[in-house]
Amino acid sequence: MRELAGKVAVVTGGGAGIGLALARAFAAEGMHLVLADVQDDVLEAAAAELRASGTEVLAVHTDVSDPDAVDALHAATIERFGAAHVLCNNAGVEVGAATWELNRAAWQWVVGVNLFGVVNGQQSFLPTMLAQNEGHIVNTASLAGLLALPFSAPYTATKHAVVGLSESLFHELALTGSEVHVSVLCPGWVKTRIFESTRNYPAGGGAPPETAVPVAKMVEEWAANAVAEGVEPAEIARQVVEAVKADRFWILTHPEISPAVMGRFKAATSGDNPRAPDVV
Ligand SMILES: NC(=O)c1ccc[n+]([C@@H]2O[C@H](COP(=O)([O-])OP(=O)(O)OC[C@H]3O[C@@H](n4cnc5c(N)ncnc54)[C@H](O)[C@@H]3O)[C@@H](O)[C@H]2O)c1
Repeated sequence: MRELAGKVAVVTGGGAGIGLALARAFAAEGMHLVLADVQDDVLEAAAAELRASGTEVLAVHTDVSDPDAVDALHAATIERFGAAHVLCNNAGVEVGAATWELNRAAWQWVVGVNLFGVVNGQQSFLPTMLAQNEGHIVNTASLAGLLALPFSAPYTATKHAVVGLSESLFHELALTGSEVHVSVLCPGWVKTRIFESTRNYPAGGGAPPETAVPVAKMVEEWAANAVAEGVEPAEIARQVVEAVKADRFWILTHPEISPAVMGRFKAATSGDNPRAPDVV
């Protein structure tokens, strides 16, 4: 989609982190914004900031794991702007612990947000984009969609799923000659609050699991430091805008992880057991 000015971008998890950076980048391209987030304070602050710089913004409290809420987000978008051109299924959460320390509530939360959040976005918005024969969906996976991270099984599982479902959609759109496009975003470490995700842990879920495994604590600390020293969200957003304009599927913002990804598939096809990725 070469020309973005005057078009409508919807960003889930748009109140903070990479989502807020995406919103700022699309606003700078002259797009109208629909921001969706489960956390009202950051949602309102983001909307106020963008409105102050002259962007038309609709802010909608949305839990992306709830299909009715995402249908309502779509309906509100169409009512306000009459179209939806770019959808960033960006909202995501992480909980770190050994697989045997996790409970079903933790799995359901991460699967609900990271996987069903993306599924719900596609289900609600694809019919509009197909009818327009114009649109671009950006699904946020992670390096954890290409490499398996230890002590992060729900995150790793859901991000692999997002890569897979995005690639399926890519083939379907290409084979049917659609002018709707899809990208999958697989960043490495980015300076955000992803490691404080449990701030939005659902009230009915009890306490989020915490690890008592010493090596898991070390990996968690190492990863939290890597995030604190990670790439600025604005750089990720810049690459997303570029990919949308170029109709490019893969958005791998951290090329230094590519050798580990290639090493993993080489091991798989040679029948070698997995090695912990170098990034860990
Ligand atoms: N930060 C990284 O290093 C990194 C790396 C790879 C991928 N990602 C992915 O990037 C995406 C954005 O995360 P971030 O790093 O900006 O984290 P973040 O925690 O800073 O921001 C996430 C935003 O999503 C919102 N959110 C959480 N649950 C939600 C829900 N159920 N419905 C709607 N909104 C919800 C939060 O309120 C927050 O505003 C996620 O999908 C994450 O997995 C992040």
